[in-house]
Amino acid sequence: MQIYETIDSVRKALDHERERGRVIGFVPTMGALHDGHLSLMEKARSECDFVLISIFVNPLQFNRPSDLTLYPKPFEADVNKAQGVGVDGVFAPAVDEMYPGGVMYTKVSVAEIGESLEGAQRLGHFDGVATVVAKLLGISGPCRAYFGEKDWQQLAVVRRMVADLSIPVEIIAGATVREPDGLALSSRNVRLDPEQRASALALRNALAAGISAFRDGVTDAELLHQRMIHQMEGRPHVEVQYAEVVGPDLIPVSTVDEQSRLVVAANVGDTRLIDNASPVDQL
Ligand code: PAJ
Repeated sequence: MQIYETIDSVRKALDHERERGRVIGFVPTMGALHDGHLSLMEKARSECDFVLISIFVNPLQFNRPSDLTLYPKPFEADVNKAQGVGVDGVFAPAVDEMYPGGVMYTKVSVAEIGESLEGAQRLGHFDGVATVVAKLLGISGPCRAYFGEKDWQQLAVVRRMVADLSIPVEIIAGATVREPDGLALSSRNVRLDPEQRASALALRNALAAGISAFRDGVTDAELLHQRMIHQMEGRPHVEVQYAEVVGPDLIPVSTVDEQSRLVVAANVGDTRLIDNASPVDQL
């Protein structure tokens, strides 16, 4: 497995692979890899000839400086995990390689679908994500790029950006990987103490309550919203941020159908957690 630190070197390697007719699978990450990330890599491994991942903690998408400095960087362990699932290359640029001199005059700005939910809580977050993903896809060139459904709004923002800017990349979604009790895997879960870890299940329980209400025939989004909130409110350490039913454009809907998405977010202690599901999912 090769490690590339420069844009030039990874471009050359991928151009060479494409010239040989090989399909590139690309999994962008910020490292601290867990089984959710690895499932995307395994999917790419089974569908592509050459699998590249990137490990880059993107300063542009953090609005809390402490979140950025606290972000774990277990590089050696990440490289071993990637190798374990058959990744061919790791693009791990320094911040200065991606943003020379720390300045970017040109950025991608995402209207509407990037402004609700997570975007409303974390101002500028999706502009930062879209900018780095546009840059990473500009570096990778034509490929299949894999993103997790765990970050539902991010997936929608990336899909929309690729369409709006005619980026020649196919976006492929991977299902959310969960702990045996249903908590969605996240690099942030390590920050939860045992009590908070127990309370964090409130997010999954809220989604499960929404799903079961829909199965019982409830299609009024307000009622589903209340059932979800009920599962989270009053739980120790849990401060609810939102529990909504949204359409494909991430705007809240009034009537729930199979195309809708249940999306929840809460602070558990100091840790912000998000989760989502289809109303017809089985969690
Ligand atoms: P990161 O949080 O490292 O996530 C990398 C990819 O793994 C994303 O596509 C995310 O949706 C996916 N992922 C995370 N948890 C998952 C889970 N439990 N199951 C399945 N997939 C999961 O998302 C980012 O990095 C960044 O915003 C990035 C796209 C790399 C841009 O900087």
